[in-house]
Amino acid sequence: MLIDFKRPTSHIKYLSSLSSVKWIQLALSHPIDILIDHAHCERKAAGVAIQLMFRYPSEPGLAEVLSPIAREELEHFEKILYLLRDLGYSLKALKPPPYGGELAKCIRKDEPNRMLDSFLIAGLIEARSHERLSLLALNSEHKSLKLLYESLLESEARHFGIYWKLAQNKFSKEETYQRLEELSKVETKILSQTFSLPRVHS
Ligand SMILES: [Fe+2]
Ligand SMILES: [Fe+2]
Repeated sequence: MLIDFKRPTSHIKYLSSLSSVKWIQLALSHPIDILIDHAHCERKAAGVAIQLMFRYPSEPGLAEVLSPIAREELEHFEKILYLLRDLGYSLKALKPPPYGGELAKCIRKDEPNRMLDSFLIAGLIEARSHERLSLLALNSEHKSLKLLYESLLESEARHFGIYWKLAQNKFSKEETYQRLEELSKVETKILSQTFSLPRVHS
């Protein structure tokens, strides 16, 4: 079992925790499951962007930033599909961790709270992906996996920035920060209730 690993020198400051050693060890010892799960994460991230465009079709400035995110996430998805194929694997269904579903339960039903929570949760998921992909990029032993994660990192941080800006443009600074802090604590709590299978968001 791996003992020594590197942590990135920086992460998105709005995350209220860093990934546990347990997660790092689980992820690094199951590289293909993590890769397949990550393909699903990219697919779902594209779906979230498209879903928000459909839910708020006339929101000024929204489609202009979400449509490129959706396209970019699908490009990431395809990139992983090709890498899987090159490595002799293909996409398969995996039991998802409770992470996404538990976070979705925090989205308030009434507008505009629903919009604020949706932006912030989408952003938090991007921020966590950025932190975990950084760990995978730094510590993966397989060169092609290392290169893949390195190539995806920057866009996940940028996507966090886009969702954060969407929230800040529409809602007051105070409300946005306060709600992000609340949601970030819930996100940490969900991750602390460890899901035993190797997933990006176990
Ligand atoms: Fe992505
Ligand atoms: Fe993303």
